[in-house]
Amino acid sequence: MSAIPADLCSLEDYQHRAQTLLPADIWAYISGASMDGFTQQRNRSQLDTLLLQQRILVDGLGQGDCRTELFGQTLTLPLLIAPLAYQKLAHPMGELASVQAAAAQGVGFCLSTLASSTLEEVAQIAPDTARWFQLYCQPDPDDTLNLIRRAEAAGYRALVVTADAPINGVRNAEQRSGFRLPDTVAAVNLQGLPKPEAGDSVFACWMQQAPNWNTLAEIIRQTHLPVILKGVMHPADAQQAVELGVQGIIVSNHGGRVLDSQPSTIEVLPAIRRSVPAEIPVLLDSGIRRGSDIFKALASGADAVLLGRSVFYALAVAGPFGVAHILRILRDELEATMALCGCARLADIKSSSLYLPLSASI
Ligand code: FNR
Ligand code: LAC
Repeated sequence: MSAIPADLCSLEDYQHRAQTLLPADIWAYISGASMDGFTQQRNRSQLDTLLLQQRILVDGLGQGDCRTELFGQTLTLPLLIAPLAYQKLAHPMGELASVQAAAAQGVGFCLSTLASSTLEEVAQIAPDTARWFQLYCQPDPDDTLNLIRRAEAAGYRALVVTADAPINGVRNAEQRSGFRLPDTVAAVNLQGLPKPEAGDSVFACWMQQAPNWNTLAEIIRQTHLPVILKGVMHPADAQQAVELGVQGIIVSNHGGRVLDSQPSTIEVLPAIRRSVPAEIPVLLDSGIRRGSDIFKALASGADAVLLGRSVFYALAVAGPFGVAHILRILRDELEATMALCGCARLADIKSSSLYLPLSASI
């Protein structure tokens, strides 16, 4: 990691550096949020509102670690790189850089349908822990099925179906910047597939081909891979998904990029966790920037978390080394938080690891 400047110590440091390096329109696409960014801000502010409960003189911390098991794989910490489209926007190696970093740090990795590298080339260098594929349903069900078959053939271990973005968010910063994909970056896994048909309204265009519960049921029927549903914000949706056969839930509001003015993910997590059986993993993303945020998510009921925009920022600053560095920073921060809160293992992180004001406990 000698290539990393010493003043990059936190994920926020990477964000600030990336803004000075990326062209303004690419910055607007990556960092942007829907409409007024209320949900993007709330993802952060509600994590900041949660306070930690320090515990002292706890025995046995010398044997501690933050390893976890997820779908039969061991991760060094409860963290995955979220599905992120077009990573070559930030670095010429794109997804190949971030998957290498995830592998080196023992972190999970989920490849986007809209990746700028083929799912086969990424699978070739990814260990089992880093082979999840995120599926955006295509207008023609045969094209969706073809993507699933390709992911299965390439050895992917899980299918993440994203359900919260049947349309693009209204992202004003991106619109103002005039962002267009450069010629060097494309959704190479969808080459040759039809682009969405033009229509004169959201309903006449995007919602004509939007997936529904039947689409999800059909996907579950068609694949032997565990299906994980991403973009869940309501306990009833989580319940319905599990009844259909979904094997994992990702509580996500897409980092505030699609529907603005909805709650943060950390707020809705406890009710969603309560609504599904304990053996169903519940993951969370949107706003994770510190190891202490991972701790707060686990204390609120998550089994693991995913990291979004920060991966782009690290790619822009230092490619695979930058991504490996931020993953390591998060691990160090999580371990420090666990040690100071008296938790030797992830299983020791409970709701009581968060500070409960005295007034609320009387
Ligand atoms: C995303 N996200 C996303 N999600 C998904 O399921 N498929 C995708 O292709 C993408 N693409 C994408 C591109 C960019 C530029 C961003 C910033 C995000 C959403 C992503 O998986 C995740 O839910 C959020 O990024 C998490 O929030 P934070 O960590 O960015 O706050
Ligand atoms: C985004 C889409 C690609 O958030 O999911 O940009």
